[in-house]
Amino acid sequence: MSARRHTYILPAIVIAFCAITCAPEHKEPVLKDLFSPHFLIGAAIADDVVMNEQGRDAAIVLRHYNTVTAENVMKWASIHPSWETYVFEPADRFVAFGQRHNMVIIGHTLVWHNQTDNAAFVDAQGKLLSRDAMLARLKEHITTVVGRYKGKVKGWDVVNEALTDEGPLRASLWVQTIGEDFIAKAFEFAHEADPDAELYYNDFSLDKPAKRDAVVQLVKDLQARGLRVDGVGIQGHWGMDYPTTENLEAFLTAIGALGVKVLVTEMDVDILPPAWDYQGADINARVELREELNPYPDGLPDTMQTVLANRYAELFSILVKHSRIVDRVTLWGVTDSTSWLNDWPVRGRTSYPLLFDREYKAKPAFQAVVNTARAGR
Ligand code: GLA
Repeated sequence: MSARRHTYILPAIVIAFCAITCAPEHKEPVLKDLFSPHFLIGAAIADDVVMNEQGRDAAIVLRHYNTVTAENVMKWASIHPSWETYVFEPADRFVAFGQRHNMVIIGHTLVWHNQTDNAAFVDAQGKLLSRDAMLARLKEHITTVVGRYKGKVKGWDVVNEALTDEGPLRASLWVQTIGEDFIAKAFEFAHEADPDAELYYNDFSLDKPAKRDAVVQLVKDLQARGLRVDGVGIQGHWGMDYPTTENLEAFLTAIGALGVKVLVTEMDVDILPPAWDYQGADINARVELREELNPYPDGLPDTMQTVLANRYAELFSILVKHSRIVDRVTLWGVTDSTSWLNDWPVRGRTSYPLLFDREYKAKPAFQAVVNTARAGR
């Protein structure tokens, strides 16, 4: 090769190397190292992230996180879209990605009232299935899905969002077909399918006293039946003024007293003006877009970045303080650009709920979170 070609090729290699290693996401301290004395830290990832392993979203995930949750590909509607059909490829890809990178893999979710085809609950004539027929379907679904990833998925969100904010069970098709013990049955079937997998109940707004008391009762009931239950997932779709420190600490303490873990399973912090006074994460709830609900379409001002950073610091400080109970914190998404909060509860807003911005750069909230890990050592 001529000396002249070298003069072109070498700088090109240096530039290419720098494009990979000098990208903003490669400069910050590594979250999973900082949090290793406290808890696992991870993200929910979409199929796009898995498919694009050399991409910048994957780079953030692989650098900072030691656990991944399936954002959508393991939900009933995705993996089991009609009664006769399973679609495993995306979930297989997700699990293989986690395994390739030695990450703790979390399955989300086996039983939910949303993102489950209503056809799953009816017979060929459209009539609601009997308890026995629906129990057989539930068992078949859980055995198939959990069985397929046995020994690979560390823990399952067995049941998602079964409780109302007031405490009693939602009147879902699960309750209407099987009855109130559908939760216990789901835990039983999941344990049979993979006796080593951890099993969790997952929900939002569990910090609210009525819902907290209900989930405590639910775990006690599962324990009284001799079922395996390893933890309670509090989703963590949080805002600037909820949960209160008092309610969050009361929830952590109450779950800790049951001898099970707390997982923060879907954390994001919403700094946009509240569209309503509802504080939950029911995906069916919707509000029309109005200009005042989308105040930062071109970027979050520095002052608001600081407000968000302070709120993240406040929440993470509580989680670090209770790290004997908190086993994992998973962010719901990788960067602000793909967060579900750009479209919920109002479609078309520009949202800023995560630690990395639309340019893949760590936000001031990232640094604030880093500081809580250091302060908690
Ligand atoms: C709930 C579900 C998640 C996800 C979010 C919104 O919290 O548990 O799977 O659908 O809503 O993205």
